[in-house]
Amino acid sequence: MEGIEEDEPPGKTPFFRARNLERALKLKNLYIKFEGAGITGTQKDRISKLHVLKAREKGYDTISLATCGNYGASISYFANLYGMKSVVAVPEYYSGDRNDEIRGNGAEILEVQAKYEDLVEFMRDKSSSEAWYDSSPGSVNSEIDMEGYEAIAYEIVSQLGRSPGYVSVPLGNGTTLAGIFSGFEKMQRRGVIRKIPRFIGSSTPNGNPIVASWKRKDRKLTELEPSIIRETKASEPLVAYRSYDGQKALNALYRSNGMATYVSDDEMYRYSTLIEHFEMLSVLPASASSLAAVDHVINRKSEPKDIVVVLTGRNKTWTTQ
Ligand SMILES: Cc1ncc(COP(=O)(O)O)c(C=O)c1O
Repeated sequence: MEGIEEDEPPGKTPFFRARNLERALKLKNLYIKFEGAGITGTQKDRISKLHVLKAREKGYDTISLATCGNYGASISYFANLYGMKSVVAVPEYYSGDRNDEIRGNGAEILEVQAKYEDLVEFMRDKSSSEAWYDSSPGSVNSEIDMEGYEAIAYEIVSQLGRSPGYVSVPLGNGTTLAGIFSGFEKMQRRGVIRKIPRFIGSSTPNGNPIVASWKRKDRKLTELEPSIIRETKASEPLVAYRSYDGQKALNALYRSNGMATYVSDDEMYRYSTLIEHFEMLSVLPASASSLAAVDHVINRKSEPKDIVVVLTGRNKTWTTQ
């Protein structure tokens, strides 16, 4: 479109004070940063466009990844938009409610009988042998992920007009939280803000090494035993036995004097219903874990500080009916 350069970053996502939820949860100064407003409905759009343009610039004709759905929908959308082929590998057990959309974006889907983390490794090798650009977490190209998510931090500070007291983010691979933290750190180094917010990480008791390591007070991330993790429809985006940016996310929790907590599937559903009821946003249950975590950890008796809840994904937009 005239006036919009291809390599311009996407516009800001909405940011607003959630006064109805404040009243319902007896919280003060609660703000929502709605990443579900991205074109394919999740925060993944922040990094997908950057990867696709980088892949094209480097002369690749195909971009590949392993995904449990949201990232695959996003990469395949931007690949289609910018004239690249995409190959999207999904675990066979995955609930699959974005596969039609991914196919509709022209991607080739590989359904493989493997856990997500093993599929990331499989695609790492396959991408190298097929000369595809690998956009999976932890790949040689993954530095771009930090750049993409740092923008969320810049927007929060510009939309709020100051650095908040807390930022709450769901944890899967830990990439989103680590990237937002890195954005705040850069702003502090440049003198744009004085203080970095305390980070709150939320994930699923069905398995996440970042929260598990945090709860043990370990500074070094330890992978979980693959056999103990259990995917459910609600927790799928957050379940992991290996978190590719887990060490970065764990460091961010310690460096920001933050905290991490588990949120059950029931709570994910309950808080997404609360968000829908009080703020008229339909969000993915996993992304509502960031609000549940705030409700768990914020002490109502202490001096109120700005709390920013990052809602990573919207719901009900990709049903095929
Ligand atoms: C909607 C949603 N929220 C949160 C996450 C977790 O993000 P990260 O893996 O960067 O920690 C994901 C990951 O797929 C996701 O799809």
